[in-house]
Amino acid sequence: MSAQGVNKTRRRVLVAATSVVGAVGAGFAFVPFIESMNPSAKARAAGAPVEADISQLEPGAMLRLKWRGKPVWVVHRTEEMLEALPTLDSQLADPSSDVEQQPSYCQNATRSIKDQFFVVVGICTHLGCSPTFRPEFAPEDLGSRWRGGFFCPCHGSLFDLAGRVYKGVPAPTNLVIPVHTYINDTTILVGEDRGAA
Ligand code: FES
Repeated sequence: MSAQGVNKTRRRVLVAATSVVGAVGAGFAFVPFIESMNPSAKARAAGAPVEADISQLEPGAMLRLKWRGKPVWVVHRTEEMLEALPTLDSQLADPSSDVEQQPSYCQNATRSIKDQFFVVVGICTHLGCSPTFRPEFAPEDLGSRWRGGFFCPCHGSLFDLAGRVYKGVPAPTNLVIPVHTYINDTTILVGEDRGAA
């Protein structure tokens, strides 16, 4: 073998040896990090579905969760709140949820699987602030036509209690509904898509 041939072979061996050391090093660095996390932290880090226990959620109240680092809210809508939804349609930009901001099984009048429980990502569709939950009817600052919803304090966008955006505000679309399903009557699994089941 020529001197050049020997050099090439040696270089290949060296490169292979370095790669093995690199891979082993990375492995050692990674394993203790993962093992130091508790099971729920590991699951959250991986974006696993999150359970919401709604057994104690009173009518009119809202539960706050975190899924994939985002705020997710579950609102227990009262009969009065549900009855108000269709009366707002003419004031809304996308009352039928034509823009795809929800799974297909929530493209309905209440944007939900079960009418009473509304699941939504709590991030304004304008520039990403977190809106304020304003469930009351006709409060002084939001006017006599207000029938509950979400108010974004950053630039004044308004959404109803189905997360539908009002006309004439900066937010361009309805709030996003995450995929979710019911494990049983009192537990919602956010992040799991089993259709409307
Ligand atoms: S971020 Fe909500 S109105 Fe601008």
